[in-house]
Amino acid sequence: MAGWRSWTICSAPSKNIIKNEDMNTANYNLQNKTVVITGAARGIGFAIAEAFAVQGSHVVIVDLARDSVDQAVQSLTQRGFSASGEVGDVTQGEAMEAIFASIVSVRGGIDCLVNNAGVTRDNLLLRMKQEEWDLVLKINLSGSFICTQKVFKHMMRARSGSIINIASVIGIIGNAGQANYAASKGGLIAFTKSCAKEFASRGVRVNAIAPGFIETEMTATLPAEVVASYAKAIPLQKMGSPADIARVCLFLASDDSSYLTGQTIAVDGGLTMH
Ligand SMILES: NC(=O)c1ccc[n+]([C@@H]2O[C@H](COP(=O)([O-])OP(=O)(O)OC[C@H]3O[C@@H](n4cnc5c(N)ncnc54)[C@H](O)[C@@H]3O)[C@@H](O)[C@H]2O)c1
Repeated sequence: MAGWRSWTICSAPSKNIIKNEDMNTANYNLQNKTVVITGAARGIGFAIAEAFAVQGSHVVIVDLARDSVDQAVQSLTQRGFSASGEVGDVTQGEAMEAIFASIVSVRGGIDCLVNNAGVTRDNLLLRMKQEEWDLVLKINLSGSFICTQKVFKHMMRARSGSIINIASVIGIIGNAGQANYAASKGGLIAFTKSCAKEFASRGVRVNAIAPGFIETEMTATLPAEVVASYAKAIPLQKMGSPADIARVCLFLASDDSSYLTGQTIAVDGGLTMH
Protein backbone atom coordinates (compact mmCIF):
# COMPACT_ATOMS: atom_id res chain seq x y z
CA MET A 1 0.00 0.00 0.00
CA ALA A 2 2.94 2.32 0.63
CA GLY A 3 3.64 2.22 -3.09
CA TRP A 4 0.35 3.97 -3.84
CA ARG A 5 1.95 7.21 -2.79
CA SER A 6 3.62 7.74 -6.12
CA TRP A 7 0.71 6.67 -8.32
CA THR A 8 -0.69 9.13 -10.81
CA ILE A 9 -4.35 8.35 -10.64
CA CYS A 10 -5.77 10.35 -13.47
CA SER A 11 -4.03 12.47 -16.06
CA ALA A 12 -7.14 14.21 -17.38
CA PRO A 13 -8.40 16.84 -14.94
CA SER A 14 -12.01 16.27 -13.99
CA LYS A 15 -14.43 17.36 -11.31
CA ASN A 16 -13.81 14.17 -9.35
CA ILE A 17 -10.06 13.96 -9.78
CA ILE A 18 -8.31 12.15 -6.91
CA LYS A 19 -5.81 14.40 -5.25
CA ASN A 20 -2.32 13.08 -4.54
CA GLU A 21 -2.74 13.70 -0.80
CA ASP A 22 -5.84 11.46 -0.79
CA MET A 23 -3.62 8.55 -1.77
CA ASN A 24 -0.85 9.29 0.68
CA THR A 25 -1.16 6.01 2.50
CA ALA A 26 2.46 5.68 3.58
CA ASN A 27 1.46 7.34 6.84
CA TYR A 28 -1.84 6.22 8.29
CA ASN A 29 -1.99 9.08 10.82
CA LEU A 30 -2.41 6.69 13.70
CA GLN A 31 -0.09 8.63 16.02
CA ASN A 32 -1.43 8.93 19.58
CA LYS A 33 -4.50 6.85 18.76
CA THR A 34 -5.57 4.44 21.48
CA VAL A 35 -5.88 0.90 20.20
CA VAL A 36 -7.05 -2.00 22.35
CA ILE A 37 -6.22 -5.51 21.15
CA THR A 38 -7.60 -8.59 22.90
CA GLY A 39 -5.53 -11.77 23.05
CA ALA A 40 -2.47 -9.71 22.19
CA ALA A 41 0.20 -11.30 24.37
CA ARG A 42 1.34 -13.44 21.45
CA GLY A 43 0.70 -14.50 17.86
CA ILE A 44 -1.41 -12.40 15.52
CA GLY A 45 -2.61 -10.13 18.35
CA PHE A 46 0.94 -9.22 19.34
CA ALA A 47 1.89 -8.53 15.71
CA ILE A 48 -1.12 -6.21 15.47
CA ALA A 49 -0.04 -4.43 18.66
CA GLU A 50 3.50 -4.08 17.32
CA ALA A 51 2.29 -2.65 13.99
CA PHE A 52 0.16 0.02 15.68
CA ALA A 53 2.97 0.83 18.11
CA VAL A 54 5.34 1.40 15.20
CA GLN A 55 2.77 3.85 13.78
CA GLY A 56 2.93 5.84 17.04
CA SER A 57 -0.35 4.61 18.52
CA HIS A 58 -0.72 3.78 22.20
CA VAL A 59 -1.54 0.08 22.33
CA VAL A 60 -3.32 -1.70 25.16
CA ILE A 61 -2.58 -5.40 25.30
CA VAL A 62 -5.37 -7.44 26.88
CA ASP A 63 -4.77 -11.11 27.65
CA LEU A 64 -5.38 -13.78 30.27
CA ALA A 65 -2.12 -14.02 32.22
CA ARG A 66 -0.20 -11.28 34.03
CA ASP A 67 3.24 -12.67 33.06
CA SER A 68 2.58 -12.82 29.34
CA VAL A 69 0.85 -9.42 29.29
CA ASP A 70 3.80 -7.81 31.13
CA GLN A 71 6.32 -9.49 28.86
CA ALA A 72 4.51 -8.33 25.71
CA VAL A 73 4.18 -4.76 27.01
CA GLN A 74 7.82 -4.69 28.06
CA SER A 75 9.03 -5.86 24.68
CA LEU A 76 7.31 -2.82 23.14
CA THR A 77 8.14 -0.19 25.76
CA GLN A 78 11.81 -1.28 25.77
CA ARG A 79 11.91 -0.25 22.11
CA GLY A 80 10.49 3.16 22.97
CA PHE A 81 6.89 2.43 21.94
CA SER A 82 3.80 3.46 23.89
CA ALA A 83 2.06 0.43 25.37
CA SER A 84 0.21 -0.73 28.46
CA GLY A 85 -1.39 -3.99 29.51
CA GLU A 86 -4.56 -5.26 31.15
CA VAL A 87 -5.21 -8.76 32.43
CA GLY A 88 -8.67 -9.61 31.21
CA ASP A 89 -10.85 -12.44 30.02
CA VAL A 90 -13.07 -11.32 27.14
CA THR A 91 -15.91 -13.52 28.38
CA GLN A 92 -16.21 -11.57 31.65
CA GLY A 93 -18.52 -8.64 30.96
CA GLU A 94 -18.15 -6.66 34.17
CA ALA A 95 -14.38 -6.99 34.27
CA MET A 96 -14.08 -5.96 30.61
CA GLU A 97 -16.36 -2.99 31.20
CA ALA A 98 -14.11 -1.84 34.05
CA ILE A 99 -11.00 -2.28 31.88
CA PHE A 100 -12.44 -0.19 29.02
CA ALA A 101 -13.67 2.50 31.44
CA SER A 102 -10.22 2.77 32.99
CA ILE A 103 -8.54 3.01 29.57
CA VAL A 104 -10.97 5.79 28.60
CA SER A 105 -10.34 7.67 31.85
CA VAL A 106 -6.56 7.58 31.32
CA ARG A 107 -6.44 8.03 27.54
CA GLY A 108 -9.60 10.08 26.92
CA GLY A 109 -11.13 7.50 24.57
CA ILE A 110 -10.61 4.37 22.50
CA ASP A 111 -10.07 4.83 18.77
CA CYS A 112 -9.85 1.21 17.73
CA LEU A 113 -10.77 -2.17 19.21
CA VAL A 114 -9.39 -5.36 17.70
CA ASN A 115 -11.38 -8.42 18.80
CA ASN A 116 -8.57 -10.93 18.30
CA ALA A 117 -8.78 -13.32 21.29
CA GLY A 118 -9.72 -16.74 20.01
CA VAL A 119 -9.26 -20.46 20.61
CA THR A 120 -9.76 -23.79 18.86
CA ARG A 121 -11.00 -27.08 20.32
CA ASP A 122 -11.06 -29.27 17.24
CA ASN A 123 -12.97 -32.52 17.07
CA LEU A 124 -15.15 -34.38 14.62
CA LEU A 125 -18.75 -33.45 15.27
CA LEU A 126 -19.84 -36.87 16.53
CA ARG A 127 -17.05 -36.79 19.11
CA MET A 128 -17.32 -33.12 20.01
CA LYS A 129 -17.99 -32.54 23.66
CA GLN A 130 -20.53 -29.95 24.70
CA GLU A 131 -17.72 -28.14 26.61
CA GLU A 132 -15.62 -27.92 23.41
CA TRP A 133 -18.55 -26.35 21.55
CA ASP A 134 -19.46 -23.99 24.41
CA LEU A 135 -15.92 -22.76 25.09
CA VAL A 136 -15.15 -21.87 21.47
CA LEU A 137 -18.46 -20.06 20.99
CA LYS A 138 -18.07 -18.30 24.33
CA ILE A 139 -14.59 -16.90 23.68
CA ASN A 140 -14.64 -16.33 19.91
CA LEU A 141 -18.19 -15.04 19.51
CA SER A 142 -19.63 -13.99 22.88
CA GLY A 143 -16.28 -12.46 23.88
CA SER A 144 -16.37 -10.25 20.78
CA PHE A 145 -19.99 -9.30 21.53
CA ILE A 146 -19.06 -8.32 25.09
CA CYS A 147 -16.05 -6.21 24.12
CA THR A 148 -17.85 -4.58 21.18
CA GLN A 149 -20.84 -3.63 23.32
CA LYS A 150 -18.69 -2.13 26.08
CA VAL A 151 -16.43 -0.20 23.72
CA PHE A 152 -19.23 1.03 21.45
CA LYS A 153 -20.70 3.01 24.38
CA HIS A 154 -17.52 5.10 24.43
CA MET A 155 -17.06 5.30 20.64
CA MET A 156 -20.70 6.36 20.21
CA ARG A 157 -20.12 9.37 22.47
CA ALA A 158 -17.00 10.28 20.50
CA ARG A 159 -18.91 9.67 17.24
CA SER A 160 -15.90 7.88 15.82
CA GLY A 161 -14.10 4.59 16.04
CA SER A 162 -13.08 1.45 14.20
CA ILE A 163 -13.81 -2.06 15.41
CA ILE A 164 -11.96 -4.93 13.75
CA ASN A 165 -13.05 -8.53 14.29
CA ILE A 166 -10.50 -11.24 13.59
CA ALA A 167 -12.60 -14.00 12.04
CA SER A 168 -11.20 -16.83 9.90
CA VAL A 169 -11.54 -18.32 6.43
CA ILE A 170 -12.97 -21.33 8.26
CA GLY A 171 -15.99 -19.15 9.06
CA ILE A 172 -16.48 -18.76 5.29
CA ILE A 173 -15.66 -22.19 3.86
CA GLY A 174 -16.01 -24.48 6.92
CA ASN A 175 -13.65 -27.29 7.87
CA ALA A 176 -14.08 -30.90 8.96
CA GLY A 177 -13.27 -31.19 12.64
CA GLN A 178 -13.89 -27.49 13.29
CA ALA A 179 -17.69 -27.13 13.39
CA ASN A 180 -17.48 -25.17 16.64
CA TYR A 181 -14.73 -22.85 15.35
CA ALA A 182 -16.45 -22.39 11.95
CA ALA A 183 -19.75 -21.53 13.65
CA SER A 184 -18.02 -19.02 15.93
CA LYS A 185 -16.17 -17.30 13.08
CA GLY A 186 -19.11 -17.42 10.67
CA GLY A 187 -21.18 -15.91 13.47
CA LEU A 188 -18.54 -13.23 13.96
CA ILE A 189 -18.76 -12.28 10.27
CA ALA A 190 -22.57 -11.94 10.51
CA PHE A 191 -22.16 -10.03 13.80
CA THR A 192 -19.76 -7.65 12.02
CA LYS A 193 -22.35 -6.82 9.37
CA SER A 194 -25.15 -6.20 11.88
CA CYS A 195 -22.97 -3.98 14.06
CA ALA A 196 -21.77 -2.09 10.98
CA LYS A 197 -25.37 -1.29 10.05
CA GLU A 198 -26.28 -0.36 13.62
CA PHE A 199 -23.21 1.79 14.32
CA ALA A 200 -22.74 3.53 10.95
CA SER A 201 -24.92 6.53 11.81
CA ARG A 202 -22.81 7.02 14.96
CA GLY A 203 -19.57 7.30 12.99
CA VAL A 204 -18.28 3.89 14.07
CA ARG A 205 -17.10 1.40 11.43
CA VAL A 206 -16.96 -2.35 11.96
CA ASN A 207 -15.06 -4.73 9.69
CA ALA A 208 -13.68 -8.24 9.87
CA ILE A 209 -10.50 -9.86 8.67
CA ALA A 210 -10.62 -13.53 7.75
CA PRO A 211 -7.05 -14.81 8.02
CA GLY A 212 -6.15 -17.94 6.12
CA PHE A 213 -3.40 -20.20 7.45
CA ILE A 214 -1.06 -18.03 9.46
CA GLU A 215 2.12 -19.22 11.16
CA THR A 216 1.49 -18.88 14.92
CA GLU A 217 1.42 -21.12 17.98
CA MET A 218 -2.22 -21.92 17.12
CA THR A 219 -1.16 -23.58 13.86
CA ALA A 220 2.25 -24.84 15.06
CA THR A 221 0.72 -28.14 16.17
CA LEU A 222 -0.59 -29.02 12.68
CA PRO A 223 1.20 -32.08 11.22
CA ALA A 224 3.68 -31.25 8.42
CA GLU A 225 1.64 -33.12 5.79
CA VAL A 226 -1.47 -31.09 6.69
CA VAL A 227 0.50 -27.84 6.33
CA ALA A 228 1.88 -29.03 2.98
CA SER A 229 -1.59 -29.90 1.70
CA TYR A 230 -2.95 -26.51 2.82
CA ALA A 231 -0.05 -24.74 1.12
CA LYS A 232 -0.83 -26.57 -2.14
CA ALA A 233 -4.42 -25.29 -2.04
CA ILE A 234 -3.29 -21.68 -1.51
CA PRO A 235 -2.72 -19.83 -4.81
CA LEU A 236 0.22 -17.93 -3.27
CA GLN A 237 1.56 -21.33 -2.10
CA LYS A 238 2.62 -20.43 1.41
CA MET A 239 1.26 -19.76 4.87
CA GLY A 240 0.81 -16.15 5.87
CA SER A 241 2.57 -14.30 8.67
CA PRO A 242 0.98 -12.39 11.58
CA ALA A 243 2.35 -9.20 9.98
CA ASP A 244 0.17 -9.83 6.91
CA ILE A 245 -2.88 -9.52 9.16
CA ALA A 246 -1.47 -6.59 11.13
CA ARG A 247 -0.97 -4.46 8.00
CA VAL A 248 -4.64 -4.83 7.06
CA CYS A 249 -5.63 -3.83 10.60
CA LEU A 250 -3.68 -0.57 10.20
CA PHE A 251 -5.62 0.17 7.03
CA LEU A 252 -8.99 -0.65 8.64
CA ALA A 253 -8.22 1.56 11.65
CA SER A 254 -7.11 4.49 9.52
CA ASP A 255 -9.09 7.12 7.66
CA ASP A 256 -7.83 5.53 4.44
CA SER A 257 -10.66 3.03 4.91
CA SER A 258 -13.22 5.66 5.92
CA TYR A 259 -15.77 4.46 3.31
CA LEU A 260 -15.46 0.82 4.30
CA THR A 261 -17.74 -0.87 6.82
CA GLY A 262 -19.40 -4.27 7.28
CA GLN A 263 -16.79 -5.97 5.11
CA THR A 264 -14.80 -9.12 5.64
CA ILE A 265 -11.36 -9.02 4.08
CA ALA A 266 -9.88 -12.46 3.51
CA VAL A 267 -6.11 -12.34 4.00
CA ASP A 268 -5.45 -15.85 2.86
CA GLY A 269 -3.09 -15.99 -0.11
CA GLY A 270 -6.10 -16.33 -2.42
CA LEU A 271 -7.52 -19.46 -0.75
CA THR A 272 -11.14 -18.31 -0.66
CA MET A 273 -11.25 -15.96 -3.63
CA HIS A 274 -14.57 -15.86 -5.41
N1 LIG B 1 -3.23 -18.69 13.26
C1 LIG B 1 -4.08 -18.84 12.24
O1 LIG B 1 -3.79 -19.49 11.23
C2 LIG B 1 -5.42 -18.15 12.29
C3 LIG B 1 -6.22 -18.25 11.16
C4 LIG B 1 -7.46 -17.64 11.16
C5 LIG B 1 -7.88 -16.93 12.26
N2 LIG B 1 -7.09 -16.84 13.36
C6 LIG B 1 -7.60 -16.09 14.51
O2 LIG B 1 -6.68 -15.09 14.87
C7 LIG B 1 -6.77 -14.85 16.27
C8 LIG B 1 -5.38 -14.98 16.89
O3 LIG B 1 -4.89 -16.28 16.59
P1 LIG B 1 -3.41 -16.75 16.94
O4 LIG B 1 -3.03 -17.74 15.93
O5 LIG B 1 -2.53 -15.57 17.20
O6 LIG B 1 -3.71 -17.52 18.31
P2 LIG B 1 -2.81 -17.73 19.61
O7 LIG B 1 -3.36 -18.93 20.28
O8 LIG B 1 -1.36 -17.69 19.27
O9 LIG B 1 -3.16 -16.42 20.47
C9 LIG B 1 -4.46 -16.21 21.00
C10 LIG B 1 -4.33 -15.32 22.22
O10 LIG B 1 -5.65 -15.13 22.74
C11 LIG B 1 -5.59 -15.22 24.16
N3 LIG B 1 -6.90 -15.59 24.71
C12 LIG B 1 -7.53 -16.79 24.63
N4 LIG B 1 -8.69 -16.75 25.30
C13 LIG B 1 -8.82 -15.49 25.80
C14 LIG B 1 -9.81 -14.86 26.59
N5 LIG B 1 -10.90 -15.50 27.02
N6 LIG B 1 -9.62 -13.55 26.93
C15 LIG B 1 -8.51 -12.89 26.53
N7 LIG B 1 -7.53 -13.45 25.79
C16 LIG B 1 -7.68 -14.74 25.43
C17 LIG B 1 -4.55 -16.29 24.41
O11 LIG B 1 -4.04 -16.23 25.75
C18 LIG B 1 -3.51 -15.97 23.35
O12 LIG B 1 -2.54 -15.04 23.81
C19 LIG B 1 -7.78 -15.86 16.81
O13 LIG B 1 -9.05 -15.25 16.90
C20 LIG B 1 -7.80 -16.93 15.74
O14 LIG B 1 -9.02 -17.64 15.71
C21 LIG B 1 -5.86 -17.44 13.40
